[in-house]
Amino acid sequence: MSDIHNIVVLTGAGVSAESGLGTFRGPGGLWEGQRIEDICTPEALARNRDLVLDFYDQRRAALSTVKPNAAHEALARLDRECRGELLIVTQNVDDLHERAGTKRLLHMHGELMSALCEQCGARAGYGGSMRDGTECGACGTKDVLRPDIVFFGEMPYQMELIDQVLSRADLFLSIGTSGAVYPAAGFVRSARHHGAHTLELNLDPSEGSYFFHESRMGPASALVPAWVDEVLAAQ
Ligand code: APR
Repeated sequence: MSDIHNIVVLTGAGVSAESGLGTFRGPGGLWEGQRIEDICTPEALARNRDLVLDFYDQRRAALSTVKPNAAHEALARLDRECRGELLIVTQNVDDLHERAGTKRLLHMHGELMSALCEQCGARAGYGGSMRDGTECGACGTKDVLRPDIVFFGEMPYQMELIDQVLSRADLFLSIGTSGAVYPAAGFVRSARHHGAHTLELNLDPSEGSYFFHESRMGPASALVPAWVDEVLAAQ
């Protein structure tokens, strides 16, 4: 571990599960009882705008009832103390990494606390309901703000930067993701191809477990603080 200088961490819904936010797949998951096509696609937004806005209004409102858990806190400690390059790429749209204090962070699937203007493309912080007549602060157009969420069929944010850091990584860590959705599910192979050691911390084996050098099964709130201790002690 002593030659670890460039770390990339990928997080998924499992890192926020112990904070009380639902995951997507598995028992009681957000996609259980919902059809992704009805909620998380540009076509769904065009076809049934209010249903889509309500879904994300409810998830945005839920953020005020939860707080970061020990896994988020440990990653924020890594961010403060880690020498060398670090980027935490999250698939999550919650704000728990930020609230724990993480700075070197990238939301590849967008953020609940942000709105995207369909008229001018501006992205800006947003905390309320999108159902009440909204106006874009950049172009002034009314009722064109949508959740700043990367829908299925849309390109995740900052993929060039992500590809660059994966090509330089000497350690790739995946936490709390099922490995069911690309391009994130392919990051382990890219990092491994470029020589990184790859480690998965997850409650259950993910669809991509086979591609990791090492997998540790258990709750993120236990595994992540222990791993951060290991990495910082080795630096
Ligand atoms: N600790 C660690 N891992 C956990 C915990 C926990 N406490 N609880 C659940 N997990 C794991 C599950 O075993 C599962 O592998 O987290 C993973 C959650 O998987 P998903 O629900 O599929 O969430 P995620 O992988 O983040 O989904 C990826 O799919 O729907 C899209 O855009 C959405 O970003 C999301 C993407």
